[in-house]
Amino acid sequence: MIKIAPSILSADFARLGEEIRSVEAAGADYIHVDVMDGHFVPNLTIGPVVVEGIRKVSRQPLDLHLMIAPVDAHIPAFAQAGAHLISVHYEATTHLDRTLNLIREQGCRVGVALNPATPISLLGEVLHLVDRVVLMSVNPGFGGQSFIPYVLQKIRRMREMIRERGLAIELEVDGGIKVTNIGAIAAAGADVFVAGSAIFSQTDYAMTIHQLRTNAEAAQAPLQ
Ligand code: DX5
Ligand code: ZN
Repeated sequence: MIKIAPSILSADFARLGEEIRSVEAAGADYIHVDVMDGHFVPNLTIGPVVVEGIRKVSRQPLDLHLMIAPVDAHIPAFAQAGAHLISVHYEATTHLDRTLNLIREQGCRVGVALNPATPISLLGEVLHLVDRVVLMSVNPGFGGQSFIPYVLQKIRRMREMIRERGLAIELEVDGGIKVTNIGAIAAAGADVFVAGSAIFSQTDYAMTIHQLRTNAEAAQAPLQ
């Protein structure tokens, strides 16, 4: 099943509550929240206080993408703020097993994210500990960047690895997703699609989410 996760990084932060209600009414399946620390990535965004505020107005699950290093000390606060799923970066933690277990202990679904240049083979030992793999298709830090084409091949191989293991893991792709390329990304095997600028730059969120979903479904159909 195709899931669309609007990234609020490209929303109008002065009207954040309204923006979240609008994308939910427009068909969002998750609200993707990008947390940046100015250290792991060269940008600063939001923390647990804002997540708590978002939780009060949102109905869909909060999909937190933590770009923080070190990350462990912050996980309980984000869980308590109302995260449903927390993804951490492989590159941001020394003891990945500990970090993934900590997310689970805090009552959240568990995600692990890989930067474009990080090989998927590094996840081999921990795949059974996660509910989601996030493949970054831009270098994290900013919205509005272009999709890196070689990530398509990673998505294919990641989907194959998940299938071989017989695991029910979501495969989320994050960065540079548009109406025009979502088909190719879905055909490669992704099932959760983050879209920030593609959605929030438009006036009609429902039309854009509908087009994203339709194009992804059309491309995914032959695989089933
Ligand atoms: C990048 C973030 C993405 C980003 C997506 O560091 O993780 O979620 O906001 O934005 P677009 O869809 O504009 O590439
Ligand atoms: Zn993200």
